[in-house]
Amino acid sequence: RLLKTLAKVTALAGALASFSVLAEPVEIKFSHVVAENTPKGQMALKFKALVEERLPGEYQVSVFPNSQLFGDNNELAALLLNDVQLVAPSLSKFERYTKKLQLFDLPFLFKDMAAVDKFQQSEAGQKLLNSMKRKGVVGLGYLHNGMKQFSANEPLLLPKDASGKKFRVMASDVLAAQFAAVDATAVKKPFSEVFTLLQTRAIDGQENTWSNIYSKKFFEVQSHITESNHGVLDYMVVTSNTFWKSLPGDKRKIIKEALDEAIAYGNKIAGDKNDQDRQLIIDSKRSLVVELTPEQRQAWVDAMKPVWAKFEDQIGKDVIDAAVAANQ
Ligand code: LMR
Repeated sequence: RLLKTLAKVTALAGALASFSVLAEPVEIKFSHVVAENTPKGQMALKFKALVEERLPGEYQVSVFPNSQLFGDNNELAALLLNDVQLVAPSLSKFERYTKKLQLFDLPFLFKDMAAVDKFQQSEAGQKLLNSMKRKGVVGLGYLHNGMKQFSANEPLLLPKDASGKKFRVMASDVLAAQFAAVDATAVKKPFSEVFTLLQTRAIDGQENTWSNIYSKKFFEVQSHITESNHGVLDYMVVTSNTFWKSLPGDKRKIIKEALDEAIAYGNKIAGDKNDQDRQLIIDSKRSLVVELTPEQRQAWVDAMKPVWAKFEDQIGKDVIDAAVAANQ
């Protein structure tokens, strides 16, 4: 009798255990390199909230900010190994997977974020979301950060002020060529290393958005920031074909809708976030924000725009023309 009861208890425990294994929510890992208090950081948290509200107990989103889980050097490889399911690298960081996205790095291509948005939503822009399909990378949407500014330890008013200096760039040949065009040296380094490189003066300067300069404290180790708005720093939210296909159709639909809403939320706050962070930097008095006269800005355009021609074949003239048309 005792044995029978024991057997029953064991069977029940086994059933419960397998039930709880079945009931474990599926974990979706979202890794990124910036702080939480940024457009991308906030978008990721919004996505987590929406998925867990709409698929409670079924899916769980774990967000890893600040290069905690993966950084610039390995996040796309990790995505393809399914060690992480969502990442949103800057459009400058896909060079090993497609040359087409180099478009976004061309200096002085877009006049403002409205033009960037217009192009991204156009047919040509949407087509680029599929540019890495053959490599197993699925583009799910564009996410804004904002326009980039130059920073250094002295005012950069004219291209000659950058000459001979060392600037950190994201892993992009276009960005390297952009600095070469003003006789500066570009060093490709992961985002997680920028603060220390600036602090130790291993590099002289960098280019980034107000939001990244503020949240990563670059303004505390750079005396001047030139309000150049010379390029765009936006993201593509990507997943792997393996993971995306593995989702049941109805769940994939709900997850995609949650992502679209989270992206729309991130895009809505990006402009304000950058404006606020610019003001916080000015108020801190740690770094001087330098405005350019129209003539000074034109000198940068004249020096850097020849870079376009070098990449025209790789990017495609039709795509560049479509982007330029978005300025109208
Ligand atoms: C950078 O490396 O400077 C940026 O791409 C970081 C980011 O994700 O905004």
